[in-house]
Amino acid sequence: MIYFDNSATTYPKPIMVNNAVALSMKKFGANPGRSGHKLSRNSSGKVWQCRKTASELFGAKSPENVAFTLNCTQALNMVIKGLLKPGDHVVTSCMEHNAVMRPLSKLEKTIGVSYTVAKVYPEDNDKTVNSFRNAINSETKLIICTHASNVLGVKLPVERIAALAHIYKIPILVDGAQSAGLVPINVGKMGIDFLCLAGHKGLYGPMGTGMLITDKHEMLDTIIEGGTGTDSMKLCQPKVMPQKFESGTPNIPGICGLCAGMEFVKNKGINNIFNHELKLMQYLYDNLKQISSVKLYMPRPTKEYFVPLISFNVKGYISDEVGKILDRNEIEVRTGLHCAPSAHEFAGTLETGTVRVSPSVFNTKQEIDILVSVIKRI
Ligand code: ALA
Repeated sequence: MIYFDNSATTYPKPIMVNNAVALSMKKFGANPGRSGHKLSRNSSGKVWQCRKTASELFGAKSPENVAFTLNCTQALNMVIKGLLKPGDHVVTSCMEHNAVMRPLSKLEKTIGVSYTVAKVYPEDNDKTVNSFRNAINSETKLIICTHASNVLGVKLPVERIAALAHIYKIPILVDGAQSAGLVPINVGKMGIDFLCLAGHKGLYGPMGTGMLITDKHEMLDTIIEGGTGTDSMKLCQPKVMPQKFESGTPNIPGICGLCAGMEFVKNKGINNIFNHELKLMQYLYDNLKQISSVKLYMPRPTKEYFVPLISFNVKGYISDEVGKILDRNEIEVRTGLHCAPSAHEFAGTLETGTVRVSPSVFNTKQEIDILVSVIKRI
């Protein structure tokens, strides 16, 4: 089987990730931060190590600034619903996933939050930043921006958008689901107030893992309350990170796997991973460009403006049909709308969806050759 659906979830996982998950079931089998016994203390130590790995990888001030979540969607909901109040205005981009658009739409209906969608201009960061600037108004309380589109691969100039946000004293929330592990992210240096991450994509962790990284937790109310193993006499949720956002027994096997995944990424080198995948996608692009019945939606991907993934269609087919043929040929891609109708509206592909090819560090040029040969047959 050839797996090209890594923007949904990377597969296979590095062996060290599989081993870390398996080992955790034996070695870290007790609740962390709850009981005082040895097995529980071991679990707490391991969770702390993973927090530390994440805080170093993403330039957080300290490990406490990292809260583990179920996935990136949960982290995004925590910030969006924890921060916005009735009447607030939000600026977001036209490339956002439903993990942003659905919570926003819900708040629009329930508490009268409004939002403006800023147009993104692929390969023209000046225009993109301007479009964010023009969307800000006196009620804007949050800027939400994906680091990279999961449909088109377009990379947004988040550092510049963060600088703009801070001129207006507006916090910025960055959805790093598609960029973490591929593009260096340093929350301190880039001025990111809230960074939401998926653990199971470019960080090579298990599914069911994600993170919220922030030193602005005072700005957020909680959307989930419960046991944290601390301050149990009080009925109010602890105000300190990470307990504020981590109620209930955590996903220890997931966190152990995520820790191993981040170590894998660190050892391989983010730039090396990116360069490998980019070469594959440029090679795919050059091949697809020569097939007259293939429609591509973005320019040839470059390091400056894109993350490595390609969306395309075969003329006369809807994307799902192409996906089925590829599946019959043991090639796995994601088709349809990728839970991001806004990006498809931008590309003009709401009706057909697109065929999305997204590589990982484990894919090869030979696998691209096989994919291209099947597309040629179609
Ligand atoms: N958001 C994921 C994707 O892009 C699942 O496929």
